[in-house]
Amino acid sequence: MRNIDEIVSRMTLEEKAGMLSGADFWRLKGVERLGIPMMTVTDGPHGLRKQDDRPDHLALNESVPAVCFPSACATACSFDRRLMEDIGAMLGDECQAENVGVILGPGANIKRGPLCGRNFEYFSEDPYLSGEMAAAHIRGVQSRGVGASLKHYALNNQETRRMSLNVRADERARREIYLSSFETAVKKGKPWTVMCSYNKIDGVYMSENPLYLEKILRGEWGFDGFTVTDWGACCSHIAGVMAGMDLQMPYAGPLNDQELADAARRGVVPIEKIDEAVKRILDIVFRYADNHKPDASYDKDDHDRRSGRAAAESAVLLKNDGGILPLSAQNKVAFIGQYAVEPRYQGSGSSRINATRITSAMDAAKGIASVSYARGFDDSTAENAAELIAEAAALAADSDTAVLFVGLPGSFESEGFDRAHMRLPDNQIALIRAVARANPRVVVVLHNGSPIEVPWINDVQAMLEMYLGGQAVGAAAVDLLYGRVNPSGKLAETFPVKLSDNPSYLNFPGDGDDAFYRESIYVGYRYYDKKEMDVRFPFGHGLSYTSFKYSNLKASASVMNVGDSVSVSVDITNTGSRAGKEIVQLYVRSKHNGISRPERELRGFEKISLEPGETKTVSFTLTSRDYAYYEAQLDGWYAENGLYAIDIGASSRDIRASADITIEGAKPLIRPLTTDSTLRDLMAVPGSEPIMKPLMDGMRRSFGVDADNAAMGEGADQMFLNMIGDMPVHTLRSFASGGEPLDVEGLVAAVASLIN
Ligand code: BGC
Repeated sequence: MRNIDEIVSRMTLEEKAGMLSGADFWRLKGVERLGIPMMTVTDGPHGLRKQDDRPDHLALNESVPAVCFPSACATACSFDRRLMEDIGAMLGDECQAENVGVILGPGANIKRGPLCGRNFEYFSEDPYLSGEMAAAHIRGVQSRGVGASLKHYALNNQETRRMSLNVRADERARREIYLSSFETAVKKGKPWTVMCSYNKIDGVYMSENPLYLEKILRGEWGFDGFTVTDWGACCSHIAGVMAGMDLQMPYAGPLNDQELADAARRGVVPIEKIDEAVKRILDIVFRYADNHKPDASYDKDDHDRRSGRAAAESAVLLKNDGGILPLSAQNKVAFIGQYAVEPRYQGSGSSRINATRITSAMDAAKGIASVSYARGFDDSTAENAAELIAEAAALAADSDTAVLFVGLPGSFESEGFDRAHMRLPDNQIALIRAVARANPRVVVVLHNGSPIEVPWINDVQAMLEMYLGGQAVGAAAVDLLYGRVNPSGKLAETFPVKLSDNPSYLNFPGDGDDAFYRESIYVGYRYYDKKEMDVRFPFGHGLSYTSFKYSNLKASASVMNVGDSVSVSVDITNTGSRAGKEIVQLYVRSKHNGISRPERELRGFEKISLEPGETKTVSFTLTSRDYAYYEAQLDGWYAENGLYAIDIGASSRDIRASADITIEGAKPLIRPLTTDSTLRDLMAVPGSEPIMKPLMDGMRRSFGVDADNAAMGEGADQMFLNMIGDMPVHTLRSFASGGEPLDVEGLVAAVASLIN
């Protein structure tokens, strides 16, 4: 066993300070005389972007060839933890082969609104799904003895002003939505490192924020790796080290290290702070060194094939009117659109991969079916090219079925800036409309990193969402179109009817450097469902070429004590004639009057594979955290007593079975009583009646109210109590004492003493 304490004790202050910032763009410093090796880190998340020379963090320069796997926007739709782990493991193998110790990713930021340019790198609008998928990604990478770097912690949900933005969100929104995704990823994935985001929260840069870096991440969630800045996110190295930020990336020059060493000499930074950070970094550096396989290599073709399978498992069949899909090889089919030969398979920015090969749908169709092709549009411009459209329409008219490959050009969505709107480029919309006029059988295959508005939806019969499906996306699309694979993905985000329906719309991207998350916890389906709004495609939606029946929902108890757990099971039967996979979703819904809550919230999912006629039982376990909200008064999670429903569904809006459960035994939440408390609060305290009655009588006298009050009619007294219930206790001085002095403080103390 290597003794890290002993190594640190032999380091000079300059060597220690040096360990806390990069050696260059991608490497950590080593200390040769102590046997500390340099370690390389690199992007991430859905492939390896290892740059040999000319490094940069926006992927403007080339990197070594690596397999480009589907982006998180796609893989999230698989709802498949094992698939995600498998992708992670392949990434880990590629890291070993390239001697990379940590791969930067996954990103567990929540898709607050559809315009964030980087949504393609994130999993979901739902924190449970996002956290589960991020944890699976991390477990997969790290199973290969390589570290993952969970990013971008936290509340980094837009690209506009990402390096200076000051985010403000209420405590419940932070905890229940934005942090919860990271919490799950940290607790279930145990990442070796966590990368902070560029933005500030409540005026404090994340790279200098002890509340998030120390109290929450390490203190509450038990994170034991090292923290690293996003590239260039460090403003003050000293403030960062003081706040629990371990590694500043990239290299910031010799003066930067010297400044830190000098600050330690002057006692401004306690040497223990530096030692702790160095130890955390060395622990990971040696963890990788001990696990590194110098002779590692990987099979590019095998990874390419598995990348294609992952894309097929992740794609979502959004619409399939009249069962137009799957196509038959006998159909005379036209593939139309530039993306049929040059698929858009990944997003732009730091995650951009130099793919080992790219398979287009046209390539993949060879040998399966004979398809003809028209380019239809050019994605370097949004201008209509009349000849391209006319040629495409003519081809469509001469075919049984037209399959349109459309999507968002790279210039529409990218790291570094946000989208301007949610539409496809005008030339693609014109193409869709023209092709639909020429042929009533139109299938649309989408390549995009985030939802789009689809006002043309009624012109087409089928829509297959491939997202940014990685380098083998063309093979996956053809397998799905021709039924060689049965679609099984479901949406990890809602498609609203239009952009202005989205809850962040009024406050995205904020004014100047301030972004207020005023929609609070009502993000994505939590908002649309609560508002009972129509959406284009709901969260969790996805079709199959077969059908599934849900039956026999059982819960192990109908009453659950806080601290206990309850098991839930449901039978799923494949009622169609093809093998297929179903994603079974479990939502919890509050049925009592309590704190403001979303209509329902995802708390479990499982993906199962079923042969025709086959039935399988899917089981879940729920704990009280699954019913809880974040209670600021407790600075913790709180499950209210009351009635809840467990909803099992095929989507958030296709609930197939429900069971009620009552939660009991939670300690009632007592708000501290003050003279600002309401009369209702005081009257609710058990045993307060004798104290409160004379005062209430005083109130009745002062307002001239009695049970037979003619002006108020029947139920006068109850109505009166309802009307004054929200008056603060201090108003008794004006209304209840008939001019006599009243000891309101004493009254509050007397009632408060009845509690406990
Ligand atoms: C991105 C990170 C990335 C880093 C290194 C930053 O601009 O936000 O996600 O890992 O650059 O390329």
